[in-house]
Amino acid sequence: MRLIVVVGARPNFIKIGPLLPALEKAGYDADIAHTGQHYDAIMSDVFFTDLEIPDPTWFLGVGSGTHAVQTGKAMIALEDLFVSERPDAVLVVGDVNSTLAGALAASKLSIPVVHLEAGLRSGDMSMPEEVNRLVADQLSAMHLTTCREADRNLMTEGVEHERIHFTGNIMAESVLQHLEKIANPSVCERFGLDLEGYILATIHRPENTDHPDRLAAIATAFRATDLPVLFPVHPRTRPLLADAGLVHSEADGVHLTDPVGYLDMLALQRYAATVVTDSGGMQEESCMVRTPCVTVRRNTERSITIEVGANRLVPADTSAIFAGIGEALDSSRTWEFPERWDTSVSERIVGALGSGIVPLSGCG
Ligand code: UD1
Ligand code: UDP
Repeated sequence: MRLIVVVGARPNFIKIGPLLPALEKAGYDADIAHTGQHYDAIMSDVFFTDLEIPDPTWFLGVGSGTHAVQTGKAMIALEDLFVSERPDAVLVVGDVNSTLAGALAASKLSIPVVHLEAGLRSGDMSMPEEVNRLVADQLSAMHLTTCREADRNLMTEGVEHERIHFTGNIMAESVLQHLEKIANPSVCERFGLDLEGYILATIHRPENTDHPDRLAAIATAFRATDLPVLFPVHPRTRPLLADAGLVHSEADGVHLTDPVGYLDMLALQRYAATVVTDSGGMQEESCMVRTPCVTVRRNTERSITIEVGANRLVPADTSAIFAGIGEALDSSRTWEFPERWDTSVSERIVGALGSGIVPLSGCG
């Protein structure tokens, strides 16, 4: 089977890390198309190196832009590619604009779409990712899910049971594969941090970055907390921090840095006292490295991490963030991992693909 795997942004790259070798082993002819949504070396190349992912066969150079510009450019480039390559199926990943573009371009050519990480829902239509997920799922012929809640969401939306495959969480498989590599805490020494003596923070969701009052409330919490805060800053957030009142400051114990590579990020999560984030992937990874997480958002599609006791949701309000950090610091690290967040996810995905992709009605 000839498969094109579409990726574009940081969390996509990580999700295909364990998948590509499994596909190759099973005899799939799988090639990567990188839209170029993320393009800086530290937002893209570093993940291909750290995860030993084969170089993309195509790099489409889409770059940044408004949602319509970015999605439109990616659709145009992907359509050209799909027309000339005629893959048997296109696999899209997660919920970024490149995911939506891949699903739209392929489905309009009647090429079956497989969605990896299907069915997650925040219920918040102001999130660009929620729009992307909903549309990608409606266009997909096969849905690979990370939790049973995702299966239920899809069935509620009319997706036939036979299309849904609860294969588990590939982010978790990636974390488990790299546990030995991150057993060395040298990255903490590099940043002058004591083991389990710091907060690791990331904030990049528009619901926080594009609301100055919320970003300022988060900044106040980071400045005032007793523990040092290490904050690898996403390029979207970087130009907004000074206005929100957050600068690199030894006195405040706030260490701002550029984004870090995947293995460094896993190690930093593992050795943190707590993670404070609005990242989807880090809610899952912190769960897998047994570091309690505080999610600063209005809602989360990763509620499974809250259910198992690894995560808690707080609004972007200074006292709520303090309370969340306090609760996380007091919590035990003994939660059960969610079902099928293990080392067999890529194998299950290969099994699902092997069971055959049934094209949507009228296609194929
Ligand atoms: C995107 C995804 C989001 C995901 C995040 C992962 C969408 C709608 N959003 O958000 O779901 O959580 O990626 O990190 O797809 N930039 C650079 N260098 C880069 C890439 C981006 O400087 O390599 C800057 C540009 O100024 C750009 C901004 O970051 O305008 C935002 O990038 P974009 O890809 O549009 O969205 P993200 O916020 O990264
Ligand atoms: N990540 C990283 N370096 C960083 C910040 C994040 O390697 O400086 C990794 C993180 O460990 C996770 C992924 O990027 O695997 C999550 O990406 P992000 O938070 O940007 O997107 P989301 O998951 O929210 O869509």
